[in-house]
Amino acid sequence: MSSQNIYILGIESSCDDTAASVILNGRLLSNVVANQKIHEEYGGVVPELASRAHQQNIVPVVDQAIKKAGIKKSQLSAIAFTRGPGLMGSLLVGTSFAKSLAYGLNIPLIDVNHMQGHILAHFIDEDGFEKPPFPFLAMTISGGHTQIVKVNHYFNMEVIGETIDDAVGEAYDKSGKLLGLGYPAGPEIDKRARLGNPKAFKFTKPKVEGLNFSFSGFKTAVLYFIQREVKNNPNFITENLNDICASIQYTIIGILMDKLKLASKQTNINHIAIGGGVSANSGIRGALKSGEDKFGWTTYIPKFEFTTDNAAMIAIVGYLKYLENDFAENNIMASARLKI
Ligand code: KG4
Ligand code: ZN
Repeated sequence: MSSQNIYILGIESSCDDTAASVILNGRLLSNVVANQKIHEEYGGVVPELASRAHQQNIVPVVDQAIKKAGIKKSQLSAIAFTRGPGLMGSLLVGTSFAKSLAYGLNIPLIDVNHMQGHILAHFIDEDGFEKPPFPFLAMTISGGHTQIVKVNHYFNMEVIGETIDDAVGEAYDKSGKLLGLGYPAGPEIDKRARLGNPKAFKFTKPKVEGLNFSFSGFKTAVLYFIQREVKNNPNFITENLNDICASIQYTIIGILMDKLKLASKQTNINHIAIGGGVSANSGIRGALKSGEDKFGWTTYIPKFEFTTDNAAMIAIVGYLKYLENDFAENNIMASARLKI
């Protein structure tokens, strides 16, 4: 192994966070994220506004990431960027920026799949965090995706289950909207769930074959439940908010854990990782961890800052690809529906 210092700048702009990070030989030097507050008042991401905000944020965010890393641009070895999946207008900002910067600095460009990023974030060198051995199972749960992936090697992954409709993050956010909570509602439901009774209200779990998920029926069940209860008692939501949140969270965790158990049984793999924005959830983290005693799993739960969208996960994939000399051409295009 050479003692060369490999500095990778990662750039992420697939949805509504503009993020940049610098990683040195797999270890984090900086991780900067600019959240776009603008979407809160619309209760969801507005693609046109997202891409405009990325254009405003990208220069200062990249600048800060390089400054915080304590290096000069000229020290960078390569630039990794999110090619997809995501919103086309958002992806284009990061892609064009990464291309011009790599061209200007005359260094390689590396394209990264956002979903691989959520999974490979587990390979960032962090004290106190073990890296999963191959093969392992990764459940990626976010605002746009819900997948169970069999990870045979860094770039050899098979999706063995996924949602046939909404993502789990959407189930959180849409339920939260019905309850009058702000966007994104996941963190607030999580906070309130800890104060409520998870068995106060019962929602039936969807019946989907095999390892696939469905959340659209669940969302409708929450809607009908709220409508019915509010008709009887207009103050139902405010009087029961923590219990409703706890019951929603309990059902969602049940749905996720059932599939994960089945996946582990079918593949005979006991090393289980989670990733994506919803993996910040305290209940899901707890349920996964309890699988260690209950099912003999070894679990891998990402550091909090690597759960929701960030560029460190893009930079680490960039580093792993750099080691394999896997570079992109400068005419590469963003791809909104890129598959793992
Ligand atoms: O990975 P991410 O930042 O963006 C996507 O790629 O979608 O995930 C965002 C999603 C949102 O739906 C948000 O509500 C959810 O992650 N989320 C949470 C929590 N923190 C973020 N959901 C449940 N509990 C949380 N603590
Ligand atoms: Zn994501």
